[in-house]
Amino acid sequence: MAVIDQRVADQYALYHGDCIEVMQSLPDERVHLSVYSPPFGGLYHYSSSERDLSNCPDYATFMEHYRFVVRELHRITMPGRMTAVHCMDVPTSNSGCDGLRDFPGDIIRLHEAEGWEYCARHAIWKEPLAVRLRTMQKNLAHATLVADSTKCGVAGADYLLVFRRSGENPVPVAHPTGLTEYAGDRAIPPELFPFRGWQGKQTENRFSHWIWRQYASCFWDDIRVDHVLPYREARDSDDEKHVHPLQLDVIDRIVTLRSNPGEVVFTPFMGVGSEVYSAVALGRKGIGAELKASYFRQAIRNVEAAVAGRKVNAENHELFRDQAA
Ligand SMILES: C[S@@+](CC[C@H](N)C(=O)[O-])C[C@H]1O[C@@H](n2cnc3c(N)ncnc32)[C@H](O)[C@@H]1O
Repeated sequence: MAVIDQRVADQYALYHGDCIEVMQSLPDERVHLSVYSPPFGGLYHYSSSERDLSNCPDYATFMEHYRFVVRELHRITMPGRMTAVHCMDVPTSNSGCDGLRDFPGDIIRLHEAEGWEYCARHAIWKEPLAVRLRTMQKNLAHATLVADSTKCGVAGADYLLVFRRSGENPVPVAHPTGLTEYAGDRAIPPELFPFRGWQGKQTENRFSHWIWRQYASCFWDDIRVDHVLPYREARDSDDEKHVHPLQLDVIDRIVTLRSNPGEVVFTPFMGVGSEVYSAVALGRKGIGAELKASYFRQAIRNVEAAVAGRKVNAENHELFRDQAA
């Protein structure tokens, strides 16, 4: 199977195909940043394709296939630049009451073995009742607490793991006037706005310092959970579940922190196009690969919205509050 379809424009390249084959067609050391959620089968099955990593028969086989992705990402990434992996602990069975597997830990060890240095982990907070209502996990029901609290679980965090590729980074990611946009749920104190884009000494840039304190935190409890791209129309008639797109706040932060405008941001598991959308909206070039046709088509619609400067979310509402207002 080579690439089945593609949509290429100045700001992006979207490929319908297996990410391993798409990556094999990309040259060495040209990608400046990659960001993605790996399709782990214990959580969802996205399609019936045998190339879909979520269809691996067991954990060991998944990790074996995933190793090729991590290795290829290393080859196509510029020395000293980053990859960011969005993941969570995964249950050892589907009952929702059993043990957990340290998937993030296994991802870290895999990256270290393939030439990446583990350098940061952000935990993304999730509200327990919202998780219970979305997943119907038995171990999050209040009734479980009442009946036998040894069976209770927690609404586990999502994690964003950040790795640096081996080698010396030839082009720093500089922010000469600090950070000027905040992607998150908190209200920026109004008295800080005069410092936005501050040209003077950066030690005085209180606007950027405020954003930096949110972004440098190991604990991101200010991610807007519903700020995701439209995805419902991408559902096939035989799908049991929707893809759950990655929150744009998470992607915006990592793209801003770890790449320069004009650089290339890649995602091997594009889904409905969130990582490419964010990259394009922030003035980078986005490249993505996706196996499932209906997600690929939705990704085109979403990324075209970014090119046209439209800010869309799942409800097609304006995505961001105007922070400057
Ligand atoms: C967790 S979802 C990604 C969602 C994405 N972050 C978004 O916001 O829409 C993982 C995606 O990987 C895709 N996928 C699975 N195996 C693949 C492969 N070998 N090549 C390309 N895409 C694949 C699935 O179809 C699914 O859309």
